[in-house]
Amino acid sequence: MEAAGVFISAEGIDGAGKSTHVEALADAFRATGRKVVRTREPGGTPLAEQIRALVLHQPMDALTEALLMFAARRDHLVQIILPALKRGEVVLCDRFTDATFAYQSGGRGFSWDALVRLERMVQSSQPVGNIDVGEELVQPDLTLWFDLEPEVAAERLAASRVPDRFESQPVAFFEAVRSGYQRRMTQQPERFVRIDTDQPREVVEPIVLEAVRSRGWL
Ligand code: TYD
Repeated sequence: MEAAGVFISAEGIDGAGKSTHVEALADAFRATGRKVVRTREPGGTPLAEQIRALVLHQPMDALTEALLMFAARRDHLVQIILPALKRGEVVLCDRFTDATFAYQSGGRGFSWDALVRLERMVQSSQPVGNIDVGEELVQPDLTLWFDLEPEVAAERLAASRVPDRFESQPVAFFEAVRSGYQRRMTQQPERFVRIDTDQPREVVEPIVLEAVRSRGWL
């Protein structure tokens, strides 16, 4: 029988180091012969990458920002994520909806409940039509939350690049984003694994692999 698709998202504040670890996880899956789709949000399709360029660089109000995140997500889900899962592939996504709860609600103060409603509309497993999705809400099978003190993350970021609209926010913003992730994890504990990334890469990497192995996917 063909393997079932696996959907894993990686989350955390900017500078927490998720991309490095997701890359190592992708290699581990490929080594077992699994086909891996490595993707990211906002982005992952030509349309969603254009939306990404807007939300990371243009000023806008919090509702506009939330709607654009979900518009990008809908395109990504329909074009890339759902078809890959249907083919039995592994989807490794840098950020998904937990980032919207953490950044747009935790960070920006936008309504948590409004995001819950948008999530239900956008994450329908139906390619068209039915927006009252009930139990068919598409969520990652596993969310790796790469967690780090905002002060430490800020130091790592400062050394690395020109900041975008989110990366240029003060430490207090990232404290609020972190609380948003914590709230999501508390609401859906079975899906989340929190990983402390204030440790050397050699220590973090086996923890990531074990989180996946313990679910029987590697
Ligand atoms: P990020 O994923 O960190 O990419 P890079 O490593 O290339 O900077 O950047 C995406 C930014 O978008 C990040 O600051 C978080 C933000 N974001 C939101 O605010 N809401 C969302 O729903 C998503 C997916 C991302």
